[in-house]
Amino acid sequence: MDPLIATATAADAPSETIDTPPPPSAEPAVEPARLWALSDLHLSYKGNREALAKLEPRPNDGLIICGDVGETAEHLRMCFSTARACFKQLWWVPGNHELFTMPSSNGKRGEDKYMECVEVAREFGVLTPEDDFVVWEGEGGPCVIAPIFTLYDYSFRPDHVLLEDALEWAGEENILATDEHLLHNDPYASRVEWCNALVERAQAKLSEAVMENLGTRLVIINHWPLREDLVNIPLVPRFVIWCGTKQTEDWHNTYNAKVVVSGHLHVRRTDWKDNTRFEEVSLGYPKQWQECQERGMDINDLLREILPGSDPPPPGEPTTLWRRYGKGTTTTPPIFLKGAKK
Ligand SMILES: [Fe+2]
Ligand SMILES: [Fe+2]
Repeated sequence: MDPLIATATAADAPSETIDTPPPPSAEPAVEPARLWALSDLHLSYKGNREALAKLEPRPNDGLIICGDVGETAEHLRMCFSTARACFKQLWWVPGNHELFTMPSSNGKRGEDKYMECVEVAREFGVLTPEDDFVVWEGEGGPCVIAPIFTLYDYSFRPDHVLLEDALEWAGEENILATDEHLLHNDPYASRVEWCNALVERAQAKLSEAVMENLGTRLVIINHWPLREDLVNIPLVPRFVIWCGTKQTEDWHNTYNAKVVVSGHLHVRRTDWKDNTRFEEVSLGYPKQWQECQERGMDINDLLREILPGSDPPPPGEPTTLWRRYGKGTTTTPPIFLKGAKK
């Protein structure tokens, strides 16, 4: 029973003698539950492991971990055990790094590697794209929390570049994602086929969630951004082909999303499009958020509030908020992938 209700019931009980002591004062009100998000913790880096250890308890809140925790099951366990001790409920979606086949992966490739990650999540009660969606009843709710997994299909490319030429096009600027060596598509014939199957599955699940929760908006969580126009990586522009699929372009409208949460780009920002708020919530490699630490910030300052979250800008104001230093600004240029090994 809720302790506040129990206290109120005791106070209301009729007293039989005038000597009955006064009812105990009400317990302090529980803080309203908030939903937070962070991605791209990249725990293969010692500096980020040390940062994770500083995560502070928010025992009434939820946390979305939006992919690229690391490459191994141990990275996931480290993340989930720490975060589980701090938050009431966790959600996780895979990033490309979780899908890498490493020497320690016991030969697990593609879908098998993904399902191993899901099993680790289940050890800690973490909800994944393989679980039923649940409704968030805390601040900013009710909202259906919808973790999905869609990968990419190289369709984020200029119209004049054919699919079969996409890798060569990126290679002209010496860009080649590590995925091409370590992210395998087994049992599918290609990453494009895997992506297509994942997109079809996510569409069915999202449609069902909308139909079953008419009028309740969604929080869609995906490591890869849903829209190409939200990819801003000026130092490595042709990395864009590994950043998503055009098939998800209008999902924020189709599936009534209040918020879309993503990572992958290591460019923290908030955008408003149509009636949806888009949150890129990367932490990034240590050097990419070093300047935040130099300003006295730590991992807790870089958690993004998803619900209730920030209000849309007034009409006529910029609809992009750069989050270089956590708090938003419309003028500070974004962080880039400078020196980053993707
Ligand atoms: Fe990443
Ligand atoms: Fe990523």
